[in-house]
Amino acid sequence: MQKLKKAIIPAAGLGTRFLPITKAVPKPMLSVLDKPTIQYIAEELISVGIEEIIIVVSPDSGVIEKHFGECEALEQRLLLDGKQKLYEIAKNTHRFSVKFVVQHEANGLAGAILCAEPYIKDEPFALLLGDELLVAKEGDKPCIKTLAEIYESTGNSVIATMEVFGDDVSKYGNIGIESEIDGVIKVNAILEKPSLNEALSNNAIIGRYVLSGEVMGMLKTLKPHGSEIYLTDVLDKLSKDGKLLASTITDDRYDVGDKFGYIKANVEMALKSQEIGQDTKEYIKELAKTL
Ligand code: G1P
Repeated sequence: MQKLKKAIIPAAGLGTRFLPITKAVPKPMLSVLDKPTIQYIAEELISVGIEEIIIVVSPDSGVIEKHFGECEALEQRLLLDGKQKLYEIAKNTHRFSVKFVVQHEANGLAGAILCAEPYIKDEPFALLLGDELLVAKEGDKPCIKTLAEIYESTGNSVIATMEVFGDDVSKYGNIGIESEIDGVIKVNAILEKPSLNEALSNNAIIGRYVLSGEVMGMLKTLKPHGSEIYLTDVLDKLSKDGKLLASTITDDRYDVGDKFGYIKANVEMALKSQEIGQDTKEYIKELAKTL
């Protein structure tokens, strides 16, 4: 089995739900507290030792490249001023080896992944969707680490799942469950955004995957649905061949592609912050009395 060394982060969405800020600022650069969402996602990969990341961006996303690059002038200035902690923060953004590929066509998630093909070829890869932040609870393993461990012990592709109810069922890919042993689910079918009646379970696919080396080749053979090709079609095929596993997340999950999810992420990160956590808590308590 090939070792997992690389990750793809599709982040080419135009972010029209966040206009006007996304007119000049690419969506992955929207900040939760003081850090762009794309950096939180890259940092999830530290837990699995992956430092080679391919970010799929929209045209004119040069500022993301700048964020992950060096800024010697700033770093020298911070060092000269004795601001060691800020220097470390600035330096940390270029700890990753990041490649950028531009997705010119809005042809779905599978289309975004295929843009990274020259860097992946037939290797396995982690896939982290740019609109979701996952934060491990204290003492828990991050989701991506659990997925990587399951891949490494079985050689099978693994997807993250969470339980959803009511209308939410139709917002996600949906999995059919054959069995579950020690938290590892054997998947026997996948449907993309089914109606509530068609759904196979309450288990939704969320945006974290570790996919085996055969997946990139399978993506190349997909037939489009209109203008888009679906990763779900490959996952369904893998599940029918008995080669797809899933694991239920224990992390806190924020849908930062959505305004309310984005605000929740900001409030909760502020509450966890050493710098402003206490002030934020007191402020929210006072504010709540007026609501
Ligand atoms: C994509 C996938 C879907 C998955 C979801 C997770 O959908 O196609 O299977 O459940 O991400 O966020 P999208 O949100 O891009 O429509």
